[in-house]
Amino acid sequence: MSDAKKDGGAAHADAISLLTADHQKVRQLLQQFTELQNDDEQLDLKLELVEQICFELTVHALAEEELLYPAVRAALGDDDLVDEAEADHAGLKDLVSQLEEMEADDAELDATVAVLLEQLERHIALEEEEMFARVKNAQLDIVALGRQIRDRKMEIEADFNGAPAPVRMSGGAEAPRDQDKP
Ligand SMILES: [Fe+2]
Repeated sequence: MSDAKKDGGAAHADAISLLTADHQKVRQLLQQFTELQNDDEQLDLKLELVEQICFELTVHALAEEELLYPAVRAALGDDDLVDEAEADHAGLKDLVSQLEEMEADDAELDATVAVLLEQLERHIALEEEEMFARVKNAQLDIVALGRQIRDRKMEIEADFNGAPAPVRMSGGAEAPRDQDKP
C-alpha cells in the first residue's frame, strides 16, 4: 500500500493540513464515544475508542512538542502563545493518563472523556485559529515541517508497536489494518 493511501493522503501534506487532519480524527473519535455515553451495552467498544483516542492524542502531542512548537517559537517569537499551547498539552496528557487507568465500567469514564473533549476543543481553537493562522504568514517552510512531522509520527507509532486497530462502529466502515499481528 502506498504511503498516501496508508495515512489518508497525508504523505504530501504541509504541517498545518496534517495537524488539522489529526485534530479532526481525534475529534471524530471523541464524538463517536459521546454517542455511546451512558450506553452500558457497548463497554468494549467504548474502551477501544478510549484506547484509540489516547494513542492518537499522545502521538500528535509529542510530534507537536518536538517539532512544531520549537519552529513556531523561532518563527513567531511569541513565547506566550507556545507556552499556552504546551500548558494545554500538559492538561490533556493528565486526562489521557487518567483514562488509561480506567476500566470500561468506571463511573468516571464518561465524565473524563467529556472534559477531554471540552479541553481539546479549546486547544484546537488556540492552534487552528491563532497559531496556524499566524504560521501561514510567517517565514516557515510548512511543507518541509510537514514532512518532518509525518516521519516523526511514524517513528513514534512504531515505538508504541503501531496504532491500535481502528474501532468498528456498527456499519463497519473501517478497513482492517494490514499490520495487525498477534
Ligand atoms: Fe494540535
